[in-house]
Amino acid sequence: MTGWVQIVGIGPGDETLITPQVQAVLSEATDAVGYIPYVERVAQNPNLTLHPSDNRVEIDRSRHALEMASAGKRVVVVSSGDPGVFAMAAAVFEAMENGDPTWRELDIRVLPGITAMLAASAACGAPLGHDFCAINLSDNLKPWGLIEKRLRLAAEADFAMAFYNPRSKSRPEGFEKALMALKSACDDNRPMIFARNVSHPDQSIKIVPLQETTPDMADMRTVVILGSSQTRIITRDGAPIVYTPRSVD
Ligand SMILES: C[S@@+](CC[C@H](N)C(=O)[O-])C[C@H]1O[C@@H](n2cnc3c(N)ncnc32)[C@H](O)[C@@H]1O
Repeated sequence: MTGWVQIVGIGPGDETLITPQVQAVLSEATDAVGYIPYVERVAQNPNLTLHPSDNRVEIDRSRHALEMASAGKRVVVVSSGDPGVFAMAAAVFEAMENGDPTWRELDIRVLPGITAMLAASAACGAPLGHDFCAINLSDNLKPWGLIEKRLRLAAEADFAMAFYNPRSKSRPEGFEKALMALKSACDDNRPMIFARNVSHPDQSIKIVPLQETTPDMADMRTVVILGSSQTRIITRDGAPIVYTPRSVD
């Protein structure tokens, strides 16, 4: 059997948001590795051996996937959303670059998925309709000073911003510091969107003026979007629509 590795994104939650390309690969694979809740989401295939692992063991998990593919297994590495956005694709390539030279000969592919910020943006309108950036607010793998610098410069450049990993139990103070930096750099009424569990049955979308935001509004199941100075809200019966116009005067 010829082994391969396919690093796949299974979208933000709803099964209908998994691409047909990823569905097809999941049905061909012999083994699936990934963080426990994501592997649980592909558990329906009886021919697939599941290898769930804990958070923060991305390199071990990647090495395991590459070893199994070298031994002839058809391995999917599962990420939520898109595997290239703060997820497993970069970890697998890091393991490959630093690992067994024969791993470079493997058939290895990345299959895209719908990332959280795009699902969240669609759920409330089009806040990312003009230039934007995405920032991972976790300082597990980079110094906090770099995050603050990027926040400051993104505000100066007037990007809309999407924030991943905003606030965890082990680092509750980071999001508070991020909000303080943004409040001092941006105008008061800029909308901030707290999109929690997007595309799950308990999805929640809250739109709050920046100055009224508090750290407890976000957790690790939330992606946060801050509009640019141009971002607008259309009020109407039912949920408002947030959008950023395509042009700047
Ligand atoms: C390690 S990152 C993985 C991102 C993922 N690869 C993606 O493309 O969406 C985890 C963060 O993604 C965001 N996230 C992932 N799925 C989400 C969802 N369904 N609703 C809201 N935020 C989500 C949260 O900010 C969470 O802390």
